[in-house]
Amino acid sequence: MKAFIFDLDGVIVFTDKFHYQAWKKMADRMDIYFDETINNRLRGVSRMDSLEIILENYKGHKLGQREKDLLAAEKNDNYRKLLETMTPDDVSTDVRNTLKELRHRGYKLAIGSSSKNTKFILERVGLMDAFDAISDGTNITKSKPDPEVFLKAAEYIGESPKDCYVVEDAYSGIDAAEAGGMTSVGIGDAAGYDKTDIKIQKFSDILSLS
Ligand code: G6P
Ligand code: MG
Repeated sequence: MKAFIFDLDGVIVFTDKFHYQAWKKMADRMDIYFDETINNRLRGVSRMDSLEIILENYKGHKLGQREKDLLAAEKNDNYRKLLETMTPDDVSTDVRNTLKELRHRGYKLAIGSSSKNTKFILERVGLMDAFDAISDGTNITKSKPDPEVFLKAAEYIGESPKDCYVVEDAYSGIDAAEAGGMTSVGIGDAAGYDKTDIKIQKFSDILSLS
């Protein structure tokens, strides 16, 4: 294996709680039922697809594209305000040291995230230089479980998908890794998914793979 492709939200940083709070604020204002279980279905799913899942519980009139765009923008404004509170302290020592050690061992490292806020987050937490390439929501047309975001990451670092591990916390991301011909490593939620190739408990466990 020559490279690691990392999901961002829920793997490198714990922004999932901010996604939840930002959607919850919008959902409460619209009187839409929304809870942590529904939120779990949003992991790895693009902003617009996430909105569609939330709107399954909307009892009001049928919304047009313009209204949906405004709701997605409202959520993103809520989310960005929460992201602005992030600092380098929001990256655990375990994650930071493991990334350094993988680099030291000669692996190429990339991000593969559906988020259009990826670069903003990496800048806030001071990790822009930790990766050789970033593939994110700004360079894809289909979000996970489609493998596009990971295939682009592999292409950006010049490696074949079969030589890449994908580290993920979402079921949709594990499915995407399999569809792309990569070896999946599941942490958090994805460590309990039967399709995950390798299950780990903490981030630094990946050092025993390499
Ligand atoms: C990640 C998260 C999803 C989120 C998506 C889009 O995949 O796991 O919960 O919906 O990114 O994020 P964005 O920052 O572009 O709204
Ligand atoms: Mg994730």
